[in-house]
Amino acid sequence: MYRYKCLNPIAECGLSQFTDNYVATEELKDADAVLVRSAAMHDMQDVPNLLAVARAGAGVNNIPVADYTEKGIVVFNTPGANANGVKEIVLTGMLMASRDLIGGTEWVVENQEDENITKTMEKAKKKFAGTEIKGKKLGVIGLGAIGVLVANAAKDLGMDVYGYDPYLSLKSAWSLNRNVHHTKSAEEIYEVCDFITIHVPLLDGTKNMLDAESFSMMKDGVIILNFARNGLVDEDALNAAISEGKVRCYVTDFPTPKTAGAPGVIAFPHLGASTEESEDNCAIMAVEELMDYLENGNIKNSVNYPNTDMGTCQTLGRIAILHKNIPHMLTQFTGIFSKDGINITEMSNKTKGNVSYAIFDVDTVIDKSVVEELSKIEHVYKVRIVK
Ligand code: MLT
Repeated sequence: MYRYKCLNPIAECGLSQFTDNYVATEELKDADAVLVRSAAMHDMQDVPNLLAVARAGAGVNNIPVADYTEKGIVVFNTPGANANGVKEIVLTGMLMASRDLIGGTEWVVENQEDENITKTMEKAKKKFAGTEIKGKKLGVIGLGAIGVLVANAAKDLGMDVYGYDPYLSLKSAWSLNRNVHHTKSAEEIYEVCDFITIHVPLLDGTKNMLDAESFSMMKDGVIILNFARNGLVDEDALNAAISEGKVRCYVTDFPTPKTAGAPGVIAFPHLGASTEESEDNCAIMAVEELMDYLENGNIKNSVNYPNTDMGTCQTLGRIAILHKNIPHMLTQFTGIFSKDGINITEMSNKTKGNVSYAIFDVDTVIDKSVVEELSKIEHVYKVRIVK
C-alpha cells in the first residue's frame, strides 16, 4: 500500500488513476509520494518515508530539489502538459499590450448608464486605439515546450519570430516552425525585437536576466512578457525602463508589490496554467509518473534523477539504488550481491550530473538485510526493494 499526500488541489481525473493500492494521507511524515502545485516545500525537510514528489506543472522552484536529491527523493515535473494553456495566455498578453482592451472595457462599464453610449463611444474610442501584432518582431527566449508553441503560433499570426535557446533539445528543434530565425545570443533578440517573451526556469544563472543592461540594448517601446517565473526580471530596472519609455508594457503572470498596479504593467494572478485542460493534463501526467516510479522504479521527467525504463520486473526481485555519481559504486553493489549469492539477471545504471540511479533485477526474493548492507555504503542516498 502506498500513501500519497496532495499539498494543493489536484484534478480528480489524475487522482482517479490511483488503484486500490494507494491511499491518501494528511500526514506528510507518512507519505511515500507528494503531489504539489504551488505550495512552498522548502521547509518540508522531515520526510522520512518520502520517495517521490510530482509537481503538476513545469517549474520546481517551490521544491528543495538539492536537499531532496541527497535524501534520495525523486522530483518529477510535467513538461508540456500545460504548455497550450500558457501559450494561449501569452498570445492574449501580447494582444492586450498592443491594444488598450482593458481601458476600453473599463470605459464601457463606467458609461453603462449613458443612454447615448452607442454614439459617445465612437468619439471616446480613439484613446484606446492600438497596434497590430502582424509583421512585428517577437523574440522568444527559451524554446522548451511552451516557447516552441508560442513561437509557432506567433508565426501563424504573421509575426516575424526570433528564437534563442542555447540548450535546444532535438524534440524542440523538430517541432519549431522552420521560419523562426535562430539567434546565437539573447542580445540579438534585445536589439531587434518589438516583443520579448521569456520561457526559462528560475535558476541562479537566470535570476534577474532582464536587467538594466539588457533593457538598455532593447528598442524603445518594447513589450516584455514574463509568464515563466518571478525573479527573472530585475523589477527596479524594469520600472525605470517603463518610466523612461524604453519598455512600453510589461505583461506578467507574477505580480509583486513592485509591479502590481504599476503604470505600464498588465499583471495576472498566475493564471497561465489555470485552465481545466492544463490542470487535467498535469494531474494525469504527475500521477502516471509517480505510479511508474513507485511500482516499477522507472523514472520519466525527473528534474533531479536520470530517466530510466526497465519496464515491469519479470524476475523474482528488483532493487533500486539512488547514489552519488563517483567511481567504485557499482562494484560495491555487485560485491554485496555476489557475497550474498544473488544472481543479477538485468541491470541499468544511469547518470544525471552528480547523481546516478541503478536498478538490478535478480532471480531471488530480496531480503531486507541486503538493503541494510547496501544502505551503509558511503554516498548511497536511498535503497529500495521495488519487488
Ligand atoms: C508551471 O510551472 O508550469 C506553472 O506555474 C503551473 C501552475 O500554474 O501551477
